[in-house]
Amino acid sequence: MKKPVIAIDGYSSTGKSSISKIIADKLGLIHMDTGALYRGVTWYALQHCVSQNGQIDLNLLFSSLDKINLEFKTHEGTLVLYMNHTDISKEIRTNQVSENVSLVAKQKEVRDFLLLSQRTLAEKGGVIMDGRDIGTVVLPNADYKFFLTASIDERTNRRFLELKGLGIEADKDQVKHNLVERDKIDSEREIAPLKQAEDAIVIDNSELTKEETIELILSHIQKI
Ligand code: DC
Repeated sequence: MKKPVIAIDGYSSTGKSSISKIIADKLGLIHMDTGALYRGVTWYALQHCVSQNGQIDLNLLFSSLDKINLEFKTHEGTLVLYMNHTDISKEIRTNQVSENVSLVAKQKEVRDFLLLSQRTLAEKGGVIMDGRDIGTVVLPNADYKFFLTASIDERTNRRFLELKGLGIEADKDQVKHNLVERDKIDSEREIAPLKQAEDAIVIDNSELTKEETIELILSHIQKI
């Protein structure tokens, strides 16, 4: 039997990636955190494509995309993102990346560059992919689609704790501001905006633990 293709979209810090990883382990699926890919490109841009005014030079980035090789490897049960053979899993979580990623992610050139590898991964089935446009653009024919949301305060707390766990110092107000800004840019962009697919199951997990959210998703998968 062909294994399912599952799309998990939603707002920043709703737990999409950690939830998807656990479901992948339970169901024997491959997990792809597509936000990490956009963060990887942003990290590259911040290293190699900054103009004299301190801003990312988008044209330079577009002409450099073919130099970026992103791949996931599993290390002690955790997905680790490598860029050009270097582990950048910590770098992509820094504030500097979070503050610039939505600008990079709204560019057509960047989205086109990352689209093929996302679709190729799903061709054989057995994949759970999380992001913003998976159910709407990347995998519109996914077998199951979920859209996660939660209150801004709850998401701020989660992100703050995630950063703390990574040893990254953060200010709560700044974390909140960044989440609001990113959601706004991600939702309002022209290409592949953050939005719920019409056939997605919406889950507000403000009051749910990670485990409860996982149970709820699994119950839908088993039911359909
Ligand atoms: O999931 P995340 O917070 O790590 O994603 C970082 C950014 O990448 C997010 O603000 C928007 C962008 N992104 C996107 O545009 N499309 C996706 N499929 C995944 C992420």
